[in-house]
Amino acid sequence: MVSLTTNLASLTLSNPTILASGIMDEDAGSMKRILHGGAGAIVTKSIGMKPQEGYPNPTLVELEHGMLNAMGLPNPGIEAFGEELQSLKKVNAPIIGSIFGADISEFTALAKKMQDHGTHALELNMSCPHAKGYGVEIGSDAARVKTITAAVKNAVTIPIFVKLSPNLTDIVSIAKAAEQGGADGIVAINTVKAMKIDIELQMPVLANKRGGYSGSAIKPIGIRCVYDIFEQVDIPIIGVGGILTGKDALEYLMAGATAVQIGSGVYYHELTIFNNICQEMKQWMNAHGYSNIHEVIGVAHQ
Ligand SMILES: Cc1cc2nc3c(=O)[nH]c(=O)nc-3n(C[C@H](O)[C@H](O)[C@H](O)COP(=O)(O)O)c2cc1C
Repeated sequence: MVSLTTNLASLTLSNPTILASGIMDEDAGSMKRILHGGAGAIVTKSIGMKPQEGYPNPTLVELEHGMLNAMGLPNPGIEAFGEELQSLKKVNAPIIGSIFGADISEFTALAKKMQDHGTHALELNMSCPHAKGYGVEIGSDAARVKTITAAVKNAVTIPIFVKLSPNLTDIVSIAKAAEQGGADGIVAINTVKAMKIDIELQMPVLANKRGGYSGSAIKPIGIRCVYDIFEQVDIPIIGVGGILTGKDALEYLMAGATAVQIGSGVYYHELTIFNNICQEMKQWMNAHGYSNIHEVIGVAHQ
């Protein structure tokens, strides 16, 4: 009998698949459907202090091996989102509230409100590749990552995970800064900064010109980031980027991830993707003599 149960700080997940931030996670109804599809936990859309419309269209385009988006962090703001979270109070799986802010005071205010609204953990988005004043502008500065993480840690009692960008020369030093600030886990990776040009129109396809690439094409980048972080930090890592199958998830676990997130995969394989990944993981583990996912985590480091 194979067990997929895993722990992230004080959270227990019935399986290691988590919905990534930004996909079907802005309203309670779709989040419940994701859990019904078998996800072990949910990360919400990244939420800021005020309602935000995001960038004009086009904001999302499907490419050959993945998706390119520059949504501009559209969200209803923390007050309205709090009402959405009320109807998730009875669900039987961890809800991880994703937040983005411009500075310490915004991050700590959002963190407290998310905790008050009943989320079980927080994900600090310091990695959006295309939001001016937010995201990777903060997440590329080790000192700011450490001080914001420490301030949020001080402000709440629930676990906090820090989500990092692959668009950095040294993701490991930023992961270490988050660990030193008291993070309970690292989430790697957010999207890869990229662009698509329409050669007939002779201009970039996205209204914002630059966007973030996700899906299959970025999996090797995510694997490399998780592998490198695992060698230098002691807190759990949540792997994300290009996971579509159970074998993709196992690759992340072998690189050192304790759990995985799935974003674009929901678009390609619909809600059954969570259950399918779990079944495929169980089959592979059974065939290879593993009974517990903790036996698989980090095995590629020899
Ligand atoms: C349409 C879209 C919206 C996203 N919005 C967010 C967001 O609000 N916050 C965040 O931290 N990541 C966001 N992401 C990034 C994903 O959470 C994930 O890190 C990335 O897509 C890589 O995973 P994937 O290949 O499974 O999609 C978004 C991704 C997509 C495709």
